[in-house]
Amino acid sequence: MKLCVMVQLCALLTLTQEAPGREKCACELSSREKLFPHEKLRIVKANASDCNSNITPQKTVELESLLLGLERRLAQLHKDVQVLEKEDDGELYGVLSLYVIENEMTEIKLLIDKLNSTTQGHQLLTANASQQLQAQKAEMLALQKFDTMRVIEGRRVNIDLSEKLLKCNKDLNTTVAPTEPPQGTCPRSRLLNVTGPRVYTAGEYPGSYSYGAWGRDPRPEQGKESWYWLVMMTSNNRYAHYVRLYSSLSALIIGVSVPGNIQIHSSNPATNTIQGPNNVLYGGALYYNCYNQDAVCRFNLTTKAVTTLQLPKGTRYNSKGNFCHLEECYPYTDLDLATDDSGVWVIYTTNQDYGNLVLSKVEEGEPPKLGQTWRTSVYKQAVTNTFMACGVLYATRYINRGMEEIFYSFNTVTGTERFNIGIFINKMSPNIQALNYSPVDQMLHAYCDSNMVSYKMLFG
Ligand SMILES: *[C@@H]1O[C@H](CO)[C@@H](O)[C@H](O)[C@H]1NC(C)=O
Ligand SMILES: *[C@@H]1O[C@H](CO)[C@@H](O)[C@H](O)[C@H]1NC(C)=O
Ligand SMILES: *[C@@H]1O[C@H](CO)[C@@H](O)[C@H](O)[C@H]1NC(C)=O
Ligand SMILES: *[C@@H]1O[C@H](CO)[C@@H](O)[C@H](O)[C@H]1NC(C)=O
Ligand SMILES: *[C@@H]1O[C@H](CO)[C@@H](O)[C@H](O)[C@H]1NC(C)=O
Ligand SMILES: *[C@@H]1O[C@H](CO)[C@@H](O)[C@H](O)[C@H]1NC(C)=O
Repeated sequence: MKLCVMVQLCALLTLTQEAPGREKCACELSSREKLFPHEKLRIVKANASDCNSNITPQKTVELESLLLGLERRLAQLHKDVQVLEKEDDGELYGVLSLYVIENEMTEIKLLIDKLNSTTQGHQLLTANASQQLQAQKAEMLALQKFDTMRVIEGRRVNIDLSEKLLKCNKDLNTTVAPTEPPQGTCPRSRLLNVTGPRVYTAGEYPGSYSYGAWGRDPRPEQGKESWYWLVMMTSNNRYAHYVRLYSSLSALIIGVSVPGNIQIHSSNPATNTIQGPNNVLYGGALYYNCYNQDAVCRFNLTTKAVTTLQLPKGTRYNSKGNFCHLEECYPYTDLDLATDDSGVWVIYTTNQDYGNLVLSKVEEGEPPKLGQTWRTSVYKQAVTNTFMACGVLYATRYINRGMEEIFYSFNTVTGTERFNIGIFINKMSPNIQALNYSPVDQMLHAYCDSNMVSYKMLFG
């Protein structure tokens, strides 16, 4: 810039001087400044971006998930050993208990091996990264000498100022935030925040099935309290025909499914095939959208019997009432089954509700029946997913590849709707295909582009 102006001035000078005298005139330009090392800056930038792509939040969460799995596993082992000790009649331990403990030890060994390899990988990465950061810092300090015009310095001051302003604004806003009376079906029903992820795992089939759901049964049968379930859309991202069970969180993470699969049918699609990802397990039965029907199916995992609950006339199905964001819709998400402390719910939309979300309680029982129904004023295609907690319906929307927002709630106790929830979920991958709340441990389970992720929900 400076150079350019001087050249122009110089040209002007030569012209005016040349006209009268015809003597030769030379104009000497000497720059005090060294040439800016653009190439060096490019390398530093490239190195920094390499560094960024190597160290992702996924990496830390991976480790935390393993530790959480181990923590839960050890507690279980402790309990089982106590049972074993009670069985000790002086000579013989119960064979069955010994067998259980042997299996647990194997699982713990696998978990520790995985922890070991993950930790070693991280150590290498950390060593590498800190070395690179040192080098980068030195380079940047050297490059700063070229900032003779103090452009960068000025910009930095501006950034500091605007950050301060933002913080000031935020502090102001939080003090006047509206407070909602904590009503719902639990003593502490007001959702304050969602933190984490606490668990992030690719599970047994890394990268294989983009659509699915997983979680814990909120009302498990005896002896299955620590079990997890997984349903993957194994065919066309649309159909599934079995539930896969894991005896613990660590078993799910290391991919050892001991109870294995419980099949609805040997192939799909068949009459009772699972269609779409938003299923839930409750009281030992899977609730889901059955193939080609505007109905909820209930599959009893013990008896393998399927019962059907017909939804009202006009209910949108077969991928005609999906969850969406601006870019795309998630196919076959017409029906979203949800669980919370009070049981099973179904979220859907109908022609007569113009595509707005409709919420109904599913009354368990033989056969299951449709209970009370609530109509909302939120358009289903503006929502990416929903879940229930303490009798309150929550809806999410897509913000960007790394962030989803819980923006909406409908309280079934008071009938009030809110559009300003403003709680953000840190995503590990861009899309959430299923969301479900587990009242057992206040965790929000998400199935995200074939990964299983869970978040801690904080209530006040
Ligand atoms: C960039 O990374 C390469 C390879 O890791 C290294 O040799 C080089 O010194 C780094 N350059 C800078 C400017 O950090
Ligand atoms: C961890 O892995 C390393 C190398 O693979 C091995 O030498 C070491 O014994 C392992 N540690 C444990 C506790 O398994
Ligand atoms: C460490 O950095 C070097 C080059 O700087 C790279 O070749 C190597 O793969 C890195 N190691 C890890 C574990 O990222
Ligand atoms: C605070 O609220 C005002 C008025 O609603 C809004 O203009 C401003 O952007 C808010 N600031 C922040 C940081 O959210
Ligand atoms: C909610 O949790 C996130 C992530 O832990 C945190 O950054 C944020 O400040 C929390 N928000 C509130 C209002 O506590
Ligand atoms: C499954 O069937 C068994 C046997 O009929 C019954 O005891 C149990 O309650 C059923 N479970 C559900 C969730 O319907």
